[in-house]
Amino acid sequence: MIYLDNNSTTRIDPRVLETMLPFLTDSFANASSTHKFGVMAGRAVNLARQQVAELLNCNPGEIIFTSGATEAINLAIKGVAESYCQKGKHIVTVQTEHKAVLDVCYYLEGRGFEVTYLPVQPDGLLDINTVEEAIRPDTILVCVMTVNNEIGVIQPIKEIAELAHVNGALFMTDATQAVGKMAIDVEAFDIDLLAFSSHKFYGPKGIGGLYIRQHSTRNLRLQAAIHGGGHEKGLRSGTLNVPGIVGLGKAAELSNIQMHADAELIRILRDHLELSLLSIPNTKVNGNKTTRLYNVTNILFKDCDSDALILGLNDIAVSNGSACTAALIEPSHVLSALGLNKEDAFSCLRFSLGRFNNSDEILDTVSAVNLLVQKLRMLA
Ligand SMILES: Cc1ncc(COP(=O)(O)O)c(C=O)c1O
Repeated sequence: MIYLDNNSTTRIDPRVLETMLPFLTDSFANASSTHKFGVMAGRAVNLARQQVAELLNCNPGEIIFTSGATEAINLAIKGVAESYCQKGKHIVTVQTEHKAVLDVCYYLEGRGFEVTYLPVQPDGLLDINTVEEAIRPDTILVCVMTVNNEIGVIQPIKEIAELAHVNGALFMTDATQAVGKMAIDVEAFDIDLLAFSSHKFYGPKGIGGLYIRQHSTRNLRLQAAIHGGGHEKGLRSGTLNVPGIVGLGKAAELSNIQMHADAELIRILRDHLELSLLSIPNTKVNGNKTTRLYNVTNILFKDCDSDALILGLNDIAVSNGSACTAALIEPSHVLSALGLNKEDAFSCLRFSLGRFNNSDEILDTVSAVNLLVQKLRMLA
């Protein structure tokens, strides 16, 4: 397998797996237990919280572990909606958000909330003026993703957070594609809520978290998403997933150490791949090419059906959008928001690279795509 679908999920780093293994075997105690073994498990959880906090530049107490980004996003948006509905019932978000955000917003619309879905520019970036125009006195939350999962564009979240705060709203970001891959500083960016997921940066699946600002200036109160034994400050009850949390912590530590080195190598591979694929006639990159994360390229191959490309590429794993919506036959809502027509939106592939790719894989991919595109266009 040549794996170029790292925005969908990543291979677990062997160092992460090694750190987790004892917690799946001998050290299996419940982190809430008061016996010696439970205390040891609790210490491992505390270390992981510290490792994640170092990655985000926050206090460990501001991290709530969840099953992943989808749950963290649900906790954040529904939690704010329920806690702040006395102040207002208006939320501002963007058309190109992940379905995890959009579907929560649709749910809240059915419960009396009003949501503004901002359009993006043809390059996928948000025009900051549209944010300012959309915020109203009853806006309680502005929610804008840091990095788009399909095209990799990086939104100006620092500026958007400032706008939200000046106008009395909270700012949340779905940073699932950013955390572990680029420097995120919740202090410097003045973020109130940030969702992330371990399996996007070489950690295990089924674990992620939510950063919740706990400062004297903005000390957020959220309604719980899952009620029960009072774990995670009562916001997310349920026995802690100790092996998962330990793995997430290790993945965060590794990203903190090697993020910049990874970025340099991956960018070279991505640029090589992109440049080579663009030499195929009638191809184009979707989204802004400069304000973009280094690991992804989304390319339109005119008159080639993306499903046929994925099938034909066989041992090369690529994607034609968000895996979470792959069962739907609608074109990608992100590509549609960029202004692509239905036919073009169904002719795009996302290549997302990671820590474990190498230049041989890029060469093989380029020749395989080249041949396949020629073949499909001949059949068309
Ligand atoms: C931008 C974005 N948000 C949220 C999610 C959902 O993450 P999880 O799989 O951890 O629930 C994903 C995963 O594809 C994503 O890319």
